[in-house]
Amino acid sequence: MKIGILGSGAMGTGIAQVAASAGNETVIFDVNPESLDRAKQQLHAVLNKLVEKGKISVSQAGDILGRIFFGKDLHAFADCNIVVEAIIEDLSIKQKVFQELETVISPRCILATNTSSLSIASIAAACRFSQRVIGIHFFNPVPLMSLVEIIPAIQTDKQTTEKSIEWVKFLKKEGVLAKDTPGFIVNRVARPYYGEAIRIMEEGIADCTTIDYAMTTLGGFKMGPFTLMDFIGADVNYRVTESVWTQFFYEPRFKPSFTQKRLFEAGYYGKKAGKGFYDYSEGAEKILPNTNPEKLKTIFERILVMLINEAAEAVMFQIGSAEAIDIAMTKGVNYPKGLLKWADELGISNVVERLDSLYDTYREDRYRCSALLRTMSRESKSFYL
Ligand SMILES: NC(=O)c1ccc[n+]([C@@H]2O[C@H](COP(=O)([O-])OP(=O)(O)OC[C@H]3O[C@@H](n4cnc5c(N)ncnc54)[C@H](O)[C@@H]3O)[C@@H](O)[C@H]2O)c1
Repeated sequence: MKIGILGSGAMGTGIAQVAASAGNETVIFDVNPESLDRAKQQLHAVLNKLVEKGKISVSQAGDILGRIFFGKDLHAFADCNIVVEAIIEDLSIKQKVFQELETVISPRCILATNTSSLSIASIAAACRFSQRVIGIHFFNPVPLMSLVEIIPAIQTDKQTTEKSIEWVKFLKKEGVLAKDTPGFIVNRVARPYYGEAIRIMEEGIADCTTIDYAMTTLGGFKMGPFTLMDFIGADVNYRVTESVWTQFFYEPRFKPSFTQKRLFEAGYYGKKAGKGFYDYSEGAEKILPNTNPEKLKTIFERILVMLINEAAEAVMFQIGSAEAIDIAMTKGVNYPKGLLKWADELGISNVVERLDSLYDTYREDRYRCSALLRTMSRESKSFYL
């Protein structure tokens, strides 16, 4: 099978490496020749490193590189079975490029987009044969993150979806089917990890250090929400938050915070800027967490039940199955446990009680308990047991 990759940035280069490593003949093209050169150098460097580490042999590295071709224009994709687009996140540019691609590719070629935030239906709508358009959403860094969300648009036909699932399996990635709704699974279900943490801080219940400490020690999360937001960067994280909120017709659960907006406006983008929620400058004061067990437990449980509530809403609206959502969060953002498995362990009625208590306190829609959880609690049901 021959794979075409349009865009040789961080994602395109990673997808090329993974496809060629799995055995696909792979052709990559970018409008910017410098970007294509960088990708070439990077692929050589990464594969050399894998050889040095003893993960692959010299001949395997040679074979992988031998399967990657660098195209001169879109005609390079003429005999591809699947073309994955990983260019700039701009709807009108993607639509235009998909129209151009349709003039050069074969009639049965699948056209996939790696978009994180645009609707697949809107990209497919630009195409003559929209039934072959699908979302195949990889995670960064592609070679290390095993999750891939597969997102059929309402126009996508069954064969396109089935072939896409097969290809993702061939890449030895963990594919999950997701509905074409904002943020798909991961970027939607993860919102409360950031939003609720900020809310707790804004209310003065605890500072960043304490909230991060609660989530890493009690929750076993690899990074606390503020460390993670500083790592992602307020520029990226704030934009995603605002985009998911507006695309969800201003759903209160996804409402952005002024705290993060101000960091974004000030250019305090986090680690890369030397300042974000934390101060990364030399000699900056190190703030110690409040280790009061009651406080830590309150923080951890509040963020966790909000995450579980979002995961349950995603099940109720069939964004993905419970299994798909648990796989997505553990493989796509390294959560220590699937949220719905966690819900079972806590007891659904306990989760409902905790959410209802938050709702009683605030009387804000943001805290309303998912009808699915409430029904499950009433019927003593669980997600897996
Ligand atoms: N970076 C991430 O964490 C991440 C994760 C998942 C999905 N995505 C999505 O993947 C896509 C690419 O993201 P990225 O981080 O690799 O971006 P990037 O900026 O690193 O690379 C984009 C590349 O596309 C090229 N390009 C722009 N317009 C083009 C065109 N018309 N034709 C050909 N090439 C063109 C640019 O020259 C650049 O090399 C976006 O849709 C993004 O939302 C990104």
